[in-house]
Amino acid sequence: MAVKITTDYIDMLNQTVEHEFRVSIQYFLQHAKMEKLKKRANPENILLDKTTYDAVGKVFYDISVSEMKHAADIMERIYYLGGQATTKSSTPVIGNSISEFAKLGIETEKEALTLYRKIIPAAREAGDWQARKLFERIYSEEEEHLFKFQEYANFQDEKNESNEATKPEWQKIFTDDYFALLNKAVAAEITGIIQYTNQHEKAALLGNRLKNTPLEAIQNTNIAGVTGNILKDIFLVEMNHLEMISERIYLLGGEVTANPNPLPVVGDTVFDMLKLDHSLESMTISLYREIIAEALKRGDTTTRLIFEEIAKQEEEHFWTFDDFVK
Ligand SMILES: [Fe+2]
Ligand SMILES: [Fe+2]
Ligand SMILES: [Fe+2]
Ligand SMILES: [Fe+2]
Repeated sequence: MAVKITTDYIDMLNQTVEHEFRVSIQYFLQHAKMEKLKKRANPENILLDKTTYDAVGKVFYDISVSEMKHAADIMERIYYLGGQATTKSSTPVIGNSISEFAKLGIETEKEALTLYRKIIPAAREAGDWQARKLFERIYSEEEEHLFKFQEYANFQDEKNESNEATKPEWQKIFTDDYFALLNKAVAAEITGIIQYTNQHEKAALLGNRLKNTPLEAIQNTNIAGVTGNILKDIFLVEMNHLEMISERIYLLGGEVTANPNPLPVVGDTVFDMLKLDHSLESMTISLYREIIAEALKRGDTTTRLIFEEIAKQEEEHFWTFDDFVK
């Protein structure tokens, strides 16, 4: 029997994609925020190679990656069914301590379980057995996440926080408008992450279906397949950028805002995608030049060096996409 696909069903799948993205970014930024929490650490932490914050940060990082994989697997299914995967992502809530991170995590995992309890029977009704198997696997992983977060819900956070009111002289260059500028970089990286994963899944499907030449049939590759691979590699680099930038903001005592900007766009054909990515990279390079100039003006050498390194990689991305854009 053929699978009965309705718009309601695709909408439901997209609701889970949106949820997975939000929680993935949430846990990723909580992992990055350990850089800020670390500064409260008790003196005995100095004697250890690894602080509590590194260890717990790893837990959040691993769960973040697992959520990103959930989003990718569901997007792949949506494209396979002929739908369009969403690029929407709602704003995550980060919190200020390990116990708060864990409590927020418990809430988001409960939301996930509720969503999947609805979608498993919906997949069965649609006759979408492949998706049902996928959702059942994800369901048990969300349960594991919930139990993991419960371990930290009553965690005694270290309290000796430095007083914000008495910012030492050297830190006075880190003003709110500076953090606002750095957060534009966070927003651009999140856009890249969402746009490239989504396009990667879509290109993978186009790559499987459209073989035009004998060479493509033999090599099992074509422009869509090649693009899919490029996007995956670049996506991983953007994740690394997001980590570097958000850790830097937290280390300097700032807060990270996590909304994508500009809004991610997917495109219909592989060439549309590449054109959109080309202009996203171009916009990002201009923004990072602005940040480099501002960091130089303020004497924030470390941030400047970080962005010089990142800008170099964005240029490489630009030229990679440029090869395909006329
Ligand atoms: Fe998930
Ligand atoms: Fe989860
Ligand atoms: Fe980037
Ligand atoms: Fe890039």
